Amino acid sequence: MRKPLIAGNWKMNTDGAGATALARSISEQSPGYGAVDLLVCPPLCYLKTVSSVLAGGTVMCGAQNMYWEKNGAFTGEVSAAMLLDCGATFVILGHSERRHLMGETDEMVNKKTLAAHAAGLTPIVCVGELLAEREAGKTAEVIRRQSEGSLAGLSEELMAATVIAYEPVWAIGTGKVATPQQAEEVHADLRKLIASRYNAETAERVRILYGGSVKPDNAAELLGQANVDGALVGGASLKADDFLAIAAAGTLLAPDDTKRPAGGT
Ligand code: 13P
Repeated sequence: MRKPLIAGNWKMNTDGAGATALARSISEQSPGYGAVDLLVCPPLCYLKTVSSVLAGGTVMCGAQNMYWEKNGAFTGEVSAAMLLDCGATFVILGHSERRHLMGETDEMVNKKTLAAHAAGLTPIVCVGELLAEREAGKTAEVIRRQSEGSLAGLSEELMAATVIAYEPVWAIGTGKVATPQQAEEVHADLRKLIASRYNAETAERVRILYGGSVKPDNAAELLGQANVDGALVGGASLKADDFLAIAAAGTLLAPDDTKRPAGGT
């Protein structure tokens, strides 16, 4: 059974005091949410502070980016080992803001994905189409290209341990959420792609999150889709109550039999 993962991407928001308070508030309330995995991804400079606040609890900490080399002359970059050292166990890779604002390619995301796994970090690899691509009927093609390129060269075990986030670019920060049917269609396609490249069992193990204007009032319907295994939450993850309300929607749905691998009990 895939345990739902509710991840907060704080992006370049909050400050030191705010990050500490937000992490503390989520951590204090987290015992009621054991049916889902909870993850927060603060800005890099607050990673260590946030991971210390979360220490001893169940809320996990992740980073929003990393570089693929282990060390060396890469001014301004950080390695996977450095993130682990600061308390991260997950890293978001290939977010659309990095792809479209910073020029990250599938090849770069792939190098980062392999390096994250090699160091023992769990990558959350993001894919998603632009509005123009959706309107041109190219969603499936874009998702295939991004996922094949970004996830190349993974063993079966590492593929199963990778988290994918489908984030349609037109739904990020816009308040325009994908319908549960639109999300489910892409998630099911992604799982089929993995099944065809690996096998059904591996595909059933991969957690695929939806991201893009997830809010407390739309979370239950999105998370209720058979192939939606959690959420990558931006704006709403900056308020502990909203983030936990989304987690609550995942908690209610966690025992759902539809999330069990085919043939599972
Ligand atoms: P919003 O939830 O603010 O739309 O952001 C989604 C996102 O980009 C998460 O990575």
